[in-house]
Amino acid sequence: MCGIVAYIGKKEAYPILMKGLHRLEYRGYDSAGVALINSDLVVYKCKGKVSDLEKFTVNKNKTGTIGIGHTRWATHGEPNDVNAHPHYSGSKNLVLIHNGIIENYAPLKEEMIKRGHVFESDTDTEVLVHLIEDIQQRENVDLPEAVRIALNNVIGAYAIVVLSKNDPDLLIAAKKSSPLVLGVGEEEFFVASDATPIVEYTKNVVYLEDEEIAVVNRKGKLQIKTIRNQEITPYIHELQMQLEAIEKGGFDHFMLKEIYEQPRSIRDSMRGRVHVDKGVVELGGIREYMQKFVSANRIIIIGCGTSWHAGMVGEYLFEDLARIPVEVEYASEFRYRNPVIYESDVVIAISQSGETADTLAAIELAKSKGATIIGVCNVVGSSIARTTHAGSYTHAGPEIGVASTKAFTAQVTVLTLMALAIGHKRGMISETHYHELLSELDSIPAKVERVLKLNDQIKYLASIFKDARNFLYLGRSYTFPVALEGALKLKEISYIHAEGYPAAEMKHGPIALIDEEMPVVVIATKGASYEKVVSNIQEVKARKGKVIAVVTEGDTIVRKIADHVIEVPETDEKLATLISVVPLQLLSYYIAVMRGCNVDQPRNLAKSVTVE
Ligand code: G6P
Repeated sequence: MCGIVAYIGKKEAYPILMKGLHRLEYRGYDSAGVALINSDLVVYKCKGKVSDLEKFTVNKNKTGTIGIGHTRWATHGEPNDVNAHPHYSGSKNLVLIHNGIIENYAPLKEEMIKRGHVFESDTDTEVLVHLIEDIQQRENVDLPEAVRIALNNVIGAYAIVVLSKNDPDLLIAAKKSSPLVLGVGEEEFFVASDATPIVEYTKNVVYLEDEEIAVVNRKGKLQIKTIRNQEITPYIHELQMQLEAIEKGGFDHFMLKEIYEQPRSIRDSMRGRVHVDKGVVELGGIREYMQKFVSANRIIIIGCGTSWHAGMVGEYLFEDLARIPVEVEYASEFRYRNPVIYESDVVIAISQSGETADTLAAIELAKSKGATIIGVCNVVGSSIARTTHAGSYTHAGPEIGVASTKAFTAQVTVLTLMALAIGHKRGMISETHYHELLSELDSIPAKVERVLKLNDQIKYLASIFKDARNFLYLGRSYTFPVALEGALKLKEISYIHAEGYPAAEMKHGPIALIDEEMPVVVIATKGASYEKVVSNIQEVKARKGKVIAVVTEGDTIVRKIADHVIEVPETDEKLATLISVVPLQLLSYYIAVMRGCNVDQPRNLAKSVTVE
């Protein structure tokens, strides 16, 4: 994780770096730091958030038109001032920021200690900056060459930027397995972990590939080479991102804004892909791979966190609509348990950020066995989007709140489109049902809009249950992944222990936890197992649990037994996820706010998990 940002040009670097760090803070917020070259090379860094760094730098010399900045999610070494980036080299002439892990840092450090290097921090990063300087001095080479040689000696993942007091007109950036984007302005360059710190200055970006090193200078010169010394011609992409998309737009938190954006983001996931009148679903990104899908004997879906929950919904959809067997796997488990993968398998990799290290590694594994890999990513140009054979972007727009909301519903929307298109091509859905589902899908954004009108009621429920110590979430069939997602949202941002369970499984354990103190959120919308879920609610009530039920509008049965009901618009069971998850997102949001938690940046978490 960690966010990195750098600037070289004619403007003052500090404000650009700080604004960039605020935007990258979703990647980690254990500490923050900047380095600037003015009359000297200065480093300001401290434990805590970017706002703490701002306080720390008041009354300090922050001038300089070249600089680097970092926001940290700690891996090696506890979050404190010393372990904060940037890190100095031994002579203090070089500074470096890093996102990733240098796996062989220990032997390198030992070797350098023997040669007299003295280290200040516990980080792997400090070893790399010492190594660069060591090479520069021992081999008498210039800085770009020293960086290149050093990177040939490290094992692990890195996105780095190096700054040198002796080369104040030069920035050097490189990456492997951690993302890095280069913004190309007029006689100025930006480097960042994603495009958000860059978008307001230039739309021209270069996505660095693994093992590439970019050297940029003040005169607007950009040179890219690989760590094996091959020159690369930079390919300049035009950013599609809009500035408004990464600002709060009047909402108290990004998470709330993103929950409210869902009618639009679900629509955007479908835009240009669904023609309800003609009964057509057209996913341009996977057009060439449709036949693979249609003839697949098996689909494997991989992802982590919320993306894995979306994958579970995908499993139900593909099995239901396309009659293809599906396995849903945590990417981190899949990659380490010697899975059986066939060339005929289609692997769908789901990732909001497109950078999750475990998902990337699982993709590489499946690819090496000859499987076809289809990506469902949100971040355009991200590593996963680029490494898959084909894919469909979710088009939810930037998601900044660490707890995923609109990305989940967008992922489910895209998976629904895929399952519908493939099921239809395989002749597994009746024409009537196919058309019904398409027009129902088209009505989902408006129905989500109606769910958002329940805001005040949900806020009230949050005030009743905000002090609970545990929560249970129950769902069945399509709403089981919703129960998992509801529980994950609550624990992520409010730190209340919560578990999601298939409603019927409650009898096999969690029922022992139920007493009058235990809120149980049950998703009891209309569907094939509705009656069974009603029985599960009775079982909870018999043990005096407090039931908050999400029901279909007009429900009269659950209303009589549950303590509270949240009525959501009726829809086909296969699409119910998209609607029933929204009140659960709002419930966790308000509970977290009422408990005084930092909703957008929950403790210990990061949005983009680029470490294994
Ligand atoms: C982190 C985030 C989650 C996200 C998960 C997978 O844990 O906090 O919100 O669901 O990573 O991330 P991805 O970007 O691959 O969807």
